[in-house]
Amino acid sequence: MPLLEIDDLSVSFDTPDGTVSAVRGVSMALEAGKTLAIVGESGSGKSQTAFAALGLLAKNGRATGSVRFEGEEILNAPLKALNKIRAEKIAMVFQDPMTSLNPYMRVSDQMSEVLIHHKGMGKKDAVAEAVRMLDAVHIPSARERIRLYPHEFSGGMRQRVMIAMSLLCRPRLLIADEPTTALDVTVQAQIMSLFSELQSEFGMALLLITHDLGVVAGSCEDVVVMYGGRIMEKAPVDPLFADPVHPYTLGLLGAIPRVDTGTEELLTIPGAPPNMTNPPPGCPFRPRCAWGGDDCDAVVPPLDPVGPNRSRACIRPVETIREGIPAAYEEALP
Ligand SMILES: Nc1ncnc2c1ncn2[C@@H]1O[C@H](COP(=O)(O)OP(=O)(O)OP(=O)(O)O)[C@@H](O)[C@H]1O
Ligand SMILES: [Mg+2]
Repeated sequence: MPLLEIDDLSVSFDTPDGTVSAVRGVSMALEAGKTLAIVGESGSGKSQTAFAALGLLAKNGRATGSVRFEGEEILNAPLKALNKIRAEKIAMVFQDPMTSLNPYMRVSDQMSEVLIHHKGMGKKDAVAEAVRMLDAVHIPSARERIRLYPHEFSGGMRQRVMIAMSLLCRPRLLIADEPTTALDVTVQAQIMSLFSELQSEFGMALLLITHDLGVVAGSCEDVVVMYGGRIMEKAPVDPLFADPVHPYTLGLLGAIPRVDTGTEELLTIPGAPPNMTNPPPGCPFRPRCAWGGDDCDAVVPPLDPVGPNRSRACIRPVETIREGIPAAYEEALP
């Protein structure tokens, strides 16, 4: 039984301009101790997938489908049950540490409070455990620095404090939403290797949300590529990089040579993501896809198997994608 099982999850928001269909029928599973990455451009529905699972949607949001954690249905579960799971079993780390840290409280107080409240520990034991967690995330001189306020840490160190905080209750699952986006590349790499170290130490699973495929390589087992609220491709990480078979994944990988300038410079995908109030009828990527045609507007491409643990949603044959960008498309580029 997977630790986390998301089945046909859809999320929509009521707005004055109409209904925003942010997530449309996504399914994925994460085994205990493993890492799954959700990758996609801004607005593809990554965060709302996680928020829906944890009952953290904005007030105007609704979720349908199913999310099971350790076999138990948690989608739209009563607040009391969700609070218990969020406190004890699933932790979430956000992009900006200041959303989870209280700027007016010493780190020692905010960390120990969690343990006092949720684990019934005494203050002294709680602080000792908090220091242990800061050690685990490699904050130097943790015993002294735990007395500091959040702003007294550098960005990278503050991210570590937040990760330490999220680990206090020894979660079975850590959801990290763009945990390294605000950090420079070197610190990003350190945080990613910290995650894998913590996973082997504490046996937790990691759901990593990022727009950056570069962060994913070497740090997870499976990847779900999302676009326009749908899953475009699902694959183990190595085959995804070695042999991407969805046009959108190719675009994300920057595998499309920049033919218009004749340079080796890589092309970002031309065009912008769809308006989710009125998404295209068929494949959401169709308006930006080099292989796209009228037939792509006619049907929502099903997520079909294309190899071991692999599937993709595209009606063009895999061979056609592997052959490269159609000549007609290259000629049409400005
Ligand atoms: N409260 C809300 N009301 C209306 N639309 C919303 C609301 N929250 C999110 N959305 C929309 O839902 C869609 C998916 O948002 P989501 O936050 O999941 O994107 P994301 O993939 O996490 O992107 P990013 O990389 O920018 O974080 C977006 O079009 C967003 O504008
Ligand atoms: Mg997001």
